Amino acid sequence: MRMTGVLLVTALALLLAVGSPVNGCPPSDRAALLSFKAALNEPYLGIFNSWSGSDCCTNWYGVSCDPETKRVADIILRGESEDPIFEKAGRSGYMTGSISPSLCQLDRLTSLVLADWKDISGEIPPCLASLPHLRILDLIGNKLSGDIPADIGKLSRLTVLNLADNQISGSIPPSIVNLKSLMHLDLSNNKLCGEIPSDIGKLSMMSRALLSRNQLTGPIPCSLTNINRLADLDLSMNQITGSIPGQLGSMPVLSTLNLDSNRLSGEIPTSLLSNTGLNILNLSRNSLEGNVPDVFGPKTYFTLLDLSYNNLRGSIPKSLSCAKYIGHLDLSNNHLCGAIPVGSPFDHLEASSFANNDCLCGTPLRTC
Ligand SMILES: *[C@@H]1O[C@H](CO)[C@@H](O)[C@H](O)[C@H]1NC(C)=O
Repeated sequence: MRMTGVLLVTALALLLAVGSPVNGCPPSDRAALLSFKAALNEPYLGIFNSWSGSDCCTNWYGVSCDPETKRVADIILRGESEDPIFEKAGRSGYMTGSISPSLCQLDRLTSLVLADWKDISGEIPPCLASLPHLRILDLIGNKLSGDIPADIGKLSRLTVLNLADNQISGSIPPSIVNLKSLMHLDLSNNKLCGEIPSDIGKLSMMSRALLSRNQLTGPIPCSLTNINRLADLDLSMNQITGSIPGQLGSMPVLSTLNLDSNRLSGEIPTSLLSNTGLNILNLSRNSLEGNVPDVFGPKTYFTLLDLSYNNLRGSIPKSLSCAKYIGHLDLSNNHLCGAIPVGSPFDHLEASSFANNDCLCGTPLRTC
């Protein structure tokens, strides 16, 4: 009798310690979430009020678990969203504090989205690079500083890395080229310096690479042109030097290319303007020289073609008047000369598209 009692008590104690397998998250996941919460302060919406009780898988705002293992799989907290709590509060999200390294104990985490909270500061915990299941890391729109974790390349399943609109400094870690699943890279509007890794072309799944508004130097890596899925490349507002690789014009799906406000020199590659899949091209505010290649045709379709503020010479190519469509054209602030071609692509353009050149004439400027 006595023995049975001891056994029962032991069994009960074991059950309590392990937790019931079907109800709720493991206490260790819950504890990690509570430490994460403790390092943040969200004064206006009260989203963390829901983070109470023992089952972190149920009704904890922004938290979801794997239905089978009950391990925490996603933390998705967006400071700008359609969720009614924002409408009710009549404002967008705001948080201070920092990202606790306790998150790194959530070793089944697949998504970490902590976006647009404006004032979360401190560094990105380097241990996040050790979360083997992480697919989405989106920390856009905060005040994070410090370096991108050097080991970031260990995240072999990562498809989205969005650290835009923060104050992240240092250089882009060389290991980044090992993110073999990466599709979307956004590091825009930070304080990154140094060169873009020359072997960035190893990111063969990448379709968007957005690195604008940093202090990046060095050339446009040629290897970038090997990324066959790349559709959107934005390197604008950096200090990138050298010439524009001609192979950029032969990329199969590239449709948006923003290289404006850099220190690029040399001529505009012919292939860039003859590529009919490229619809948005901004090369404004560089030191490009030579003529505008005369390679336009009936398939030319640019919603935006901005070549302003360079040192382009010669005349506006006649072939541009055969283009199927030119939405916004800006050739201002160069050294172009001669008659502006006549044709439907030019009908809607204003004088400002041609202003401040050496000797352009014809509609919409003065008659020749
Ligand atoms: C092209 O880039 C320039 C310089 O960065 C910028 O001022 C301009 O607004 C861009 N053009 C368009 C139409 O977005």
